[in-house]
Amino acid sequence: MCGIFGCILKQGKAAPLIHAALKRLEYRGYDSVGEVTLDGSKLYMKKDQGKIDEVHQAHNLDDLPGSIGIGHTRWATHGAPLQVNAHPHVDCNGQIAVVHNGIIENFAELKQELENHGHVFKSRTDTEVIPHLIEEAKKNNPSLSLAEAVLDALKKLNGSYAIAVISTIEPDKIVCARNESPLVIGVNEDSAYFASDIPAFLPLTNKAIIVDDGEIAVLSSHGVEIKKIADSKPVVREPKVISWTAEMAVKQGYPHFMIKEIHEQPECLRNTLRVQEHYADLMATFLDRAREVYLVACGTSYHACLAASYMFSKLAFLPTYPVIASEFIEQHGKSVNIDSTILAVSQSGETADTLAAVNAARQRAATILGLTNAIGSTLTRVSRVYIGQQSGPEIGVAATKTFTSQLSVMAQLALRLAKKRGKVSQDEMDYLAERLCRIPETVQTIINTQEEKTKQIAKKYKDRKTFFFLGRGISTATAYEGRLKLMEIAYTPAIAFPAGESKHGPISLVEPGFPVVFVCPKDDTHKTLIGNIMEMKARGAAIIAVIEEDDEEIKKLADDFVEVPKDVPEVLSSIPFIVPLQLIAYYMAVERGYNPDMPRNLAKSVTVK
Ligand code: M6R
Repeated sequence: MCGIFGCILKQGKAAPLIHAALKRLEYRGYDSVGEVTLDGSKLYMKKDQGKIDEVHQAHNLDDLPGSIGIGHTRWATHGAPLQVNAHPHVDCNGQIAVVHNGIIENFAELKQELENHGHVFKSRTDTEVIPHLIEEAKKNNPSLSLAEAVLDALKKLNGSYAIAVISTIEPDKIVCARNESPLVIGVNEDSAYFASDIPAFLPLTNKAIIVDDGEIAVLSSHGVEIKKIADSKPVVREPKVISWTAEMAVKQGYPHFMIKEIHEQPECLRNTLRVQEHYADLMATFLDRAREVYLVACGTSYHACLAASYMFSKLAFLPTYPVIASEFIEQHGKSVNIDSTILAVSQSGETADTLAAVNAARQRAATILGLTNAIGSTLTRVSRVYIGQQSGPEIGVAATKTFTSQLSVMAQLALRLAKKRGKVSQDEMDYLAERLCRIPETVQTIINTQEEKTKQIAKKYKDRKTFFFLGRGISTATAYEGRLKLMEIAYTPAIAFPAGESKHGPISLVEPGFPVVFVCPKDDTHKTLIGNIMEMKARGAAIIAVIEEDDEEIKKLADDFVEVPKDVPEVLSSIPFIVPLQLIAYYMAVERGYNPDMPRNLAKSVTVK
């Protein structure tokens, strides 16, 4: 994926604003950066490969004239991360500049056609066809306005895009459009902005207009005009006031977003408890009626689904299938039908594999339910009912606060469903509801009392080559998630599986000193898990255990342990038990000298470039 931003100001220079906004979008891609501004009847452009700070140091991104401009921070897909492939891209005459987030699937055919008409390409990107298509449209019909020429070009594109165009043809406008890639517009009295994400313009305005798929928007000093791409029908949409503060989108003194976001979890979990009753009830009703329920997601969101499958089963006696989204079509595509319900979970609401699974299920008339952190995302628009998990923006690539929030929402859903089905006594319901309300405090205690210990563990084990992560029951999901965190930010190969599986092969890897992380809540699996710890110990493994605070039995067996406050019900245990594992992964990355916010080869959502 990439980040795009642009602005049209009544006064002042656009370039420094674009530069600052691209910094806020850098988590979306950091292979290259570029800006283009318009002053009078000329485009001024700077772009290069590398991170924004590096490019700024070399080229001074603020030093471009004009009060209109667009910018891009790139996550390469088509074409290597080189200067020539950095956005913006321009037409043959350097009069039309485009930034793009997405993938143009038919770019090779389009490029060939355009080359046959004499267009000359400089880059290897799919994006470059767009300015040339606009140029071609204008050449064929000089009376077209810029927006009409853009429309003409868009109709030839297959694939995903959020684009923005500026041109000397109409130097007082920015034209942007969206199909399957995020695009939002920000407005205030003096200016209009567009961006991939709200935090990009949050310090400038809190009034946002979400652009939907299949829409084109023209930003000018007179305001914003939105139309449908298909038939040019005008769209009337009032701006929404965004309650996120600008401070929520910056690091607030923490060295990295990841640690800031780990620390935000108590607050997020409190917000998550304020899920809108009506939608939670409606969702529980759909889940209750379904013949079968698929929990579909990728990465961390998939691990939340895995934990949720234990919650739905144990509390509401509802069997569910947690499915990795990229496998959904192959595995279940044919058996899904009108009686199936898909609960799709995606922090961004834009992950391509999750959306592909959802689209396939929609085509077979299944009911789609969505759980996401991004209101206005594609997932919210294709869902029959959706719940916003209210975690606030998560800038760190590694999902942390959004995982625990997803777990909290799904626990609430499971509880509602249990009540509907009469599967849990009122006393137990009250007890669980009260414990859920205490979870933010429990997580705060872990952060306050255990962070130093996790730092020491990271220091001690930082040179180990491989780790095991083991759990039983719902803690299997916690183990999988702990493993993912360590792998993605500390680049440490790690293996996770249900502890019961260890003797079926993986144990052969264990030799003296091999680190094995056990997730050990005091639930029904506790006794058996102790057996698994003994097996590993007998082979000389170094045991790192996440335990309840009075668990003397495991304390005696473990080489190192981190404690979680006691009396967390089994179905909620993944929420507090993942926190020490997030901290260990974070400090391990820091110990190893890596930037935990920007794991290599990864970006926040895998939707687009
Ligand atoms: O936005 P989503 O929840 O759909 O994203 C899914 C995964 O790409 C995401 O969880 C990824 O695994 C994170 N980097 C994990 O920390």
